[in-house]
Amino acid sequence: MRILKAITIIIFLSTIPLSAQLSNETPAQKEERMQWWTDARFGMFIHWGLYALPARHEWVKRHERITNEKYFKLFNPDLFTPRDWAKMAKNAGMKYAVITSKHHEGFCLFDSKFTDYKVVNTPYGKDLIKQWVDAFRAEGLKVGFYYSLLDWHHPDYTIDRNHPQSPATEEGYKRLNKNRDMKKYRKYIKNQVKELLTNYGKIDIIWLDYSFPSGSHGKGRIDWDSENLLAMVRKLQPEIIVNDRLDLLDVEGGWDFTTPEQYKVSQWPERDGKQIPWETCQTFSGSWGYYRDEMTWKSPHQLLELLIESVSKGGNLLLNVGPTARGMFDYRAQERLKVMGDWMILNNCSIYNCTQAPENFPKPDNCLLTYNPKTNRLYVHLLNYPMGRLTLKGFGGKVQYAQFLHDASEIKFGKPRRNITHQEKMQEEDIILLLPVVKPKVEIIVIELYLE
Ligand code: GLC
Repeated sequence: MRILKAITIIIFLSTIPLSAQLSNETPAQKEERMQWWTDARFGMFIHWGLYALPARHEWVKRHERITNEKYFKLFNPDLFTPRDWAKMAKNAGMKYAVITSKHHEGFCLFDSKFTDYKVVNTPYGKDLIKQWVDAFRAEGLKVGFYYSLLDWHHPDYTIDRNHPQSPATEEGYKRLNKNRDMKKYRKYIKNQVKELLTNYGKIDIIWLDYSFPSGSHGKGRIDWDSENLLAMVRKLQPEIIVNDRLDLLDVEGGWDFTTPEQYKVSQWPERDGKQIPWETCQTFSGSWGYYRDEMTWKSPHQLLELLIESVSKGGNLLLNVGPTARGMFDYRAQERLKVMGDWMILNNCSIYNCTQAPENFPKPDNCLLTYNPKTNRLYVHLLNYPMGRLTLKGFGGKVQYAQFLHDASEIKFGKPRRNITHQEKMQEEDIILLLPVVKPKVEIIVIELYLE
């Protein structure tokens, strides 16, 4: 009878979702844990691996169904100087960086006890992650690891529909997966994530990528043992900030922020009617890994707009660089980082610590608004510089002082005079800013408004 009772209790306990243990934080505590990240707004993503050698997409192994290991034997980034990378990130105005410790190809940029498929066994021979972490920290940047849940090298990772060896038939899957054991692979993930979160000091962010549970031959939370994996992550690094790709969206504490990839959100993303922390990850051009012949590079103006627009909707931008196989940032990435940095020197007050503007400040045409709640200042970004005048509808009585942010020069403003209202239907609650006709030499002009 007693044994029966004990068994019943054990069965009952095992049905309690582990999720209960994933978070015992209040919303205020979560906000506090994430505060530095929310304030930072701008980070660097780095996708680096063996795929830098073919230089034609980080999914090249899948696209071309590559099985040989020629790139592993060639990998030797002789010009890798992480301090230079860190400086470029910092000078661009970025406050944190996230690097691929392992991408889908399965190759590890760190020295892991659990595989031979790692950088220390290439001609390069040294742990890249260790040097990277030290250099980025030395520049005062927060550091994060991307870790691919997918693995196209591990012998126990079952062939799924994204795998380079995905077959055409069910029979094919059965045959190929006969001797593969996801239980062992799950253990491998835990072992490696544990290494990453114990051997490199304090890690600020972890980016676990990704889940594709729907449809056939996908993978999700059961395949990764997501709940136990995340419980371990939080235990090892209680302050860490975690992305949302573990397939735990419905689990309390199963993610910290959402990750719209390669598109601009139309508004601040919500879940259950509440605005949630978010970060858009974006590339300079079409792929994440270095892609020599890809030519769709975004212009500096587009990139700045992306950053400002993200902040104007309460989010962050994680902008990706795909270094070359020699360990350098491509010149096109360097050029863009420089332009962004030059803009940030003068205008970062409209980015750091800023968020979406309060509702009672309607967005003027061709502008983006950001707002610093601590200083109570509002920032009007002029995407198209207007000629002479800018009308701010609904701002009347709410503004104390106005200036250009880049040179702190005063901008005079006033109420519309009655005799011109017939043309523009201006109201008492509008104000008009008087701007110089010639656009100052700044990529995107920002007007700083001290609010009443
Ligand atoms: C996707 C892609 C991957 C890239 C990532 C960045 O998951 O598979 O190549 O690393 O997005 O968010």
